[in-house]
Amino acid sequence: MKTVILFGSPRKDGNTIQLSDAFSQKLKEKGCDVRIIYLNDLNIRPCQGCLTCSPEGVCRINDDMKDIRKYIVESDLIVYATPVYWSMPSSQLKLVIDRSIAFIDTEYNSRIKGKKAVTIMTCADENKDTFLITKDMFKRAFDFLGISYVGSIDATGCTEKGVVNKESIERAAQIAESLV
Ligand SMILES: Cc1cc2nc3c(=O)[nH]c(=O)nc-3n(C[C@H](O)[C@H](O)[C@H](O)COP(=O)(O)O)c2cc1C
Repeated sequence: MKTVILFGSPRKDGNTIQLSDAFSQKLKEKGCDVRIIYLNDLNIRPCQGCLTCSPEGVCRINDDMKDIRKYIVESDLIVYATPVYWSMPSSQLKLVIDRSIAFIDTEYNSRIKGKKAVTIMTCADENKDTFLITKDMFKRAFDFLGISYVGSIDATGCTEKGVVNKESIERAAQIAESLV
């Protein structure tokens, strides 16, 4: 199973990476091809809403979204990994979600229909409800994109760096294993 992890945290030594690494490591152990994209390192411009992309799926903005698009198209599983910022995904990840309008054609059909999606999220709050808004946004986006939401991994109580609890890390590995 070919997998791309769209990594939306700016911190490579924080919390979201702990879950992403556990997930990725298990998939690799099982022989999967996993690529992690550190979105914060890339040049991704905001969607301009021109819909030039609708007929052919080609965005008129010439930036790193070109490569991300290719990795998404090539993958069976897309992982959306993000810290919760103000109850929402990070801006780094939101840019990619907005630019994913290029996967929708003029008849509102998806060009990436049939792929699978997993979300990985961390937040400081102890209350799981903190994930609701982001999760709902993901659900709606995946429905529109015709991709199946096959797993959600989240960890609350992440106030400091690298403090994800053991249960959540184990769950990340379990979900990865269940998908192979
Ligand atoms: C700008 C900003 C906004 C945040 N907003 C929230 C929030 O709305 N709810 C919450 O529980 N945690 C919030 N947090 C805390 C982060 O979600 C949490 O510490 C997360 O684990 C950080 O992930 P990282 O270590 O991968 O960067 C926020 C942190 C920052 C920097």
